Amino acid sequence: MTATITPAATKIRLDTATAHLDPPVAVIDLPSLETNAADLLRRAQGKPIRLASKSIRCRAVLERVHGQPGFAGVLGYTLAEAIWLATDPTHPFPDVVVGYPTAERGALRRLAADEVARERVTLMIDSAEQLDFIDAAAPGHPEISVCIDLDASLRAAGGRVHIGIRRSGVFTADDALALARTVAGRPGFRLTGIMAYEGQVAGLGNRPAGKPLYGLAVTAMQALSVRELAARRAEVVAAVDAEFPLRFVNGGGTGSLETTTAEDAVTELTAGSGLYGPGLFDAYRQFSVAPAALFGTDVVRRPRPGFVTVTGGGWIASGPAGADRVPIPTYPQGLSLTGTEGAGEVQTPLHGVVADVLAVGDRVWFRHAKAGELAEHVAAFQLVGADGTVQEVPTYRGENQHFL
Ligand SMILES: Cc1ncc(COP(=O)(O)O)c(C=O)c1O
Repeated sequence: MTATITPAATKIRLDTATAHLDPPVAVIDLPSLETNAADLLRRAQGKPIRLASKSIRCRAVLERVHGQPGFAGVLGYTLAEAIWLATDPTHPFPDVVVGYPTAERGALRRLAADEVARERVTLMIDSAEQLDFIDAAAPGHPEISVCIDLDASLRAAGGRVHIGIRRSGVFTADDALALARTVAGRPGFRLTGIMAYEGQVAGLGNRPAGKPLYGLAVTAMQALSVRELAARRAEVVAAVDAEFPLRFVNGGGTGSLETTTAEDAVTELTAGSGLYGPGLFDAYRQFSVAPAALFGTDVVRRPRPGFVTVTGGGWIASGPAGADRVPIPTYPQGLSLTGTEGAGEVQTPLHGVVADVLAVGDRVWFRHAKAGELAEHVAAFQLVGADGTVQEVPTYRGENQHFL
């Protein structure tokens, strides 16, 4: 029989492992990271998962997960980052697709000059304008691998309703084939893949807390979108692959692994956030995440019964500003932010019955609403094992690497 790990036991383990560190302190709870990685693999049903590095932003964690069977390649977020990951002397990542188009002139010049980086890095494009930009930034560059970003949004009512990310102008098989032919006709470029990220499925929770009707509407929209995209993605891939054999077709994200992997046209998936288990990923019906990345800060005062105030706490996530972007008090269980102050710049009041058992100096653990952004606030993560051992590893910020 395996013993259940209770939230109270996890809190004690994290508190003890980090007791020597002043707040704020950020941890990766390794048992939870492993649970989350295993669950991503289960949901991927055998298709390889490319790691979305924006949602991790720590090389030690990337290396650790990438080394497990079932994970292959990185979906980077800037070209400078991709070159850095691909050309590291001790642990180079052999396959980094930059998930978004780039306008980094200096990094493009470095890519053009570096044969190893060019072998390992693929750029994202959705129009000939980006090819022109690359040519202008690095005139006469040797062959660069590119991937076409197919728009995966749902268009309804004859195009008047747009649901999903406003991303690429490539929507139909004709659009994709035309761009693939343009790439083939331009010296210095090689088409290697197609990516389509269905953010309205993969990144939008279908069980939002306290909004059951909205959740049902999201679920219905997602079912429609999954059907529409499966047919369109198959058509696009068949058309392009027949003329220009593709090395990979990438799709999905943490929230869509089940449906994306079911498409025969897709050869690999992407996921990142599901490893850390941030707050926004509590809102899904078909899976749950374990809290793996947390930040801890300490009680500094007790304004009145039922309340404690901790230092800092206000690490707010990107995206449409709203209540779901604030950090979530996680350990001890039973604490909430206040409606009037929220998560503050220098201090955060929290309330709940459990507040009365906390003293000045006690640690409270929060989850960030999003995954990788936590790493921008701290120089290191403490990797805490099941036995309470702790290893400090630098985040990207701790390695003095700031890409966004
Ligand atoms: C292109 C792309 N693919 C995949 C993902 C999924 O990443 P995650 O699993 O971290 O949500 C994202 C997230 O925004 C993305 O932009």
